[in-house]
Amino acid sequence: MIELSQEEQKMLDGEISKAASQSMEILVALGRIYGAKRMIPITSAQVSGVSYKTIGQAGLEYLQDLVEKGAKTIVPTFLNPAGMDSEQWREMKIPEDFAKKQIKILDAYAKMGIMKTCTCAPYFIGIRPKLGEHIAWAESSAVSFANSVLGARTNREGGPSALAAAICGVTPEYGLHLDENRIAKIAVKIECELKTTADFGALGSAVGKLVKRKNPAFTGIKTASEEQLKVLGASMAATGSVPIYFIKNITPEYNVEENVDEIVFGEKELEESKDQLDSKEKPQLVTIGCPHASIKEIEDIAQMVSAKRPTCDFWICTSRKIKELAIERGYNKPIEAAGGKIVADTCMVVCPLESMGFSITGTNSGKAAKYLPNLCKQKVAFGDLEDILYR
Ligand code: F3S
Repeated sequence: MIELSQEEQKMLDGEISKAASQSMEILVALGRIYGAKRMIPITSAQVSGVSYKTIGQAGLEYLQDLVEKGAKTIVPTFLNPAGMDSEQWREMKIPEDFAKKQIKILDAYAKMGIMKTCTCAPYFIGIRPKLGEHIAWAESSAVSFANSVLGARTNREGGPSALAAAICGVTPEYGLHLDENRIAKIAVKIECELKTTADFGALGSAVGKLVKRKNPAFTGIKTASEEQLKVLGASMAATGSVPIYFIKNITPEYNVEENVDEIVFGEKELEESKDQLDSKEKPQLVTIGCPHASIKEIEDIAQMVSAKRPTCDFWICTSRKIKELAIERGYNKPIEAAGGKIVADTCMVVCPLESMGFSITGTNSGKAAKYLPNLCKQKVAFGDLEDILYR
């Protein structure tokens, strides 16, 4: 039985708004399913289900209905990527009808008081919950980063449950909010050197498939940048269903159950994973930034393409805030001169890439490599940036 506070009961009884009542019903139902005893306050929410491509007309109408029922978020809440760059959608050749629907979705979220950050990497724009902080985030890669790299606590919410938590300011206490579930059930021993972001993508892709829903604990990784960790977590969340991982001497938490099975991952496994992800074709477009690129990644790419022009066009997907910072620092100039675009608010997977004339797309992300074939009808050229940009 889940116990509600007076305020939570008022929400459930419809004393705040119909939307709050409907949202609390979702949270109570979730709590009952997972055996939560109470609700806990959250400090932020991140809502997925933003692209018209993924939620369609039914999703748009659901959001508009919630607005009519008085939905207002009461904790800082921000959005996952949308289906287009909201300022440059015409340059991206996004169909007009799609753009109109996308704008209505963003307007509905804005009316609920949600920040139109449109990024899957909010931690690169200063949204960094602290160790032990309870949050309700929905984007699987951001969930992985928040739990594993920041030590914050979130379950892998769906779009509607994250939105319900944002409207009520609480989430049921179960799963990764509790100490006993923040533990690895399988060990992964790394016996090779991981040099590039693509190496971390290939590792995540292979390990996700092997561990499926078990949380892994890695040993043998000597160093990893936040950019590499975001790709590792995103890839494992895509090919498996991993919401948290631990790396010895790197992540803030490292908890492993006793006597767990161990997977060994060496040079051979790394090469096999890269090989499986790569069609070996020359990409028509290289897309970088899955999850969204940091300012450091954009700086590195600007340097790389100034020294040598890539052999195909490329996009760097990022948040609007990081794009503005990149422009302020002048990184956009060498990138544009080399046939690149910094694309904000969206990404290669949630924009209608398949209607834009592309069929072979390059990526260094295990997550994009997993979704591009099914969601965007693309063949994937997978590899390090030096490989895919100059293939
Ligand atoms: Fe982000 Fe799109 Fe990848 S939402 S994690 S860039 S598939």
